[in-house]
Amino acid sequence: MINAVERKINQYVSELDDAYVSSLYRKLPSGKRLRTKLILKIAGSDLKVVKTAATVEMIHAASLLHDDVIDDANTRRGIISLNASSGNKTAIMMGDILYSKAFLELCNISPEVAKVVSNAVVQLSLGELADVELSKKFHTNRDAYLKMLYQKTASLMEASAEAAAILAGKPRNAYRKYGHNLGMAFQMIDDILDITADSKTLGKPALHDFEEGKVTLPYMYLYEALEDEDRAYLLTLYKKRLNADEALWIKSAMKKYAIIEKSYFEAKDLIVEVIKLMESLGEDDLSNIAKEMIEREF
Ligand code: FPP
Ligand code: MG
Repeated sequence: MINAVERKINQYVSELDDAYVSSLYRKLPSGKRLRTKLILKIAGSDLKVVKTAATVEMIHAASLLHDDVIDDANTRRGIISLNASSGNKTAIMMGDILYSKAFLELCNISPEVAKVVSNAVVQLSLGELADVELSKKFHTNRDAYLKMLYQKTASLMEASAEAAAILAGKPRNAYRKYGHNLGMAFQMIDDILDITADSKTLGKPALHDFEEGKVTLPYMYLYEALEDEDRAYLLTLYKKRLNADEALWIKSAMKKYAIIEKSYFEAKDLIVEVIKLMESLGEDDLSNIAKEMIEREF
């Protein structure tokens, strides 16, 4: 059924009637299609459902195009990013094209679905701005970080699950909660993988978040656990291209204070909550999607 969504996205792109845009779109990696999987599992494969998934994926792709310009990224999902291959101007405009075409199509689905998804895009944009602000200097503001995480990542998953529930006539708040927790846990785990995984697995450089100025939860917890002298040393590594010794120091300190475990359990708590919720609704597939998220290698 994912194929039906891919075909719908291709159709929307070809309706733009622009060979250059089509060629740029073909260059983009399609990713895990996590939002599509959620939507189809919740709502089946009715035409409106397929259209909703297609618009959500186009919005997600647009947000990553813009994010890569903002982050000055060279790679996305293991291949050269569009900003790196074709320049920032092209990447920004390609994002705008996908994003606005998605909105045009959303208007043809249902006003309620359009409202839920467009509200998520407002949150996405607020979240990205908050991310930029929070990356300017070292901080340990957990509440601000979690709010940003919700806006930047969880909001679109929350909206995907809620929109699907609306289309399927299912209780929207339960599914909204599911998407919310899944989105929060997804980003928390992404933050952990940035520290524990190698660059080949990540499709981007490892330990990159701290170098980019992103003080994710593990770094906040590490800072809080460290003695004064080590705290000062950690701060010298902030926004710095790390050499092998420095990267090893961070990894060892994380290990010494069991920071990865602490961060992992926080994500796991969110997942366990929605596994129970979905089991109570007889949604075994959705509960399994949640389980898979925390059963990855760290
Ligand atoms: C990736 O974060 C970024 C996002 C999930 C959202 C980005 C949102 C915008 C740029 C708002 C604009 C939205 C539209 C639709 C125009 P990351 O940098 O932490 O993760 P990464 O490692 O995947 O780059
Ligand atoms: Mg980024």
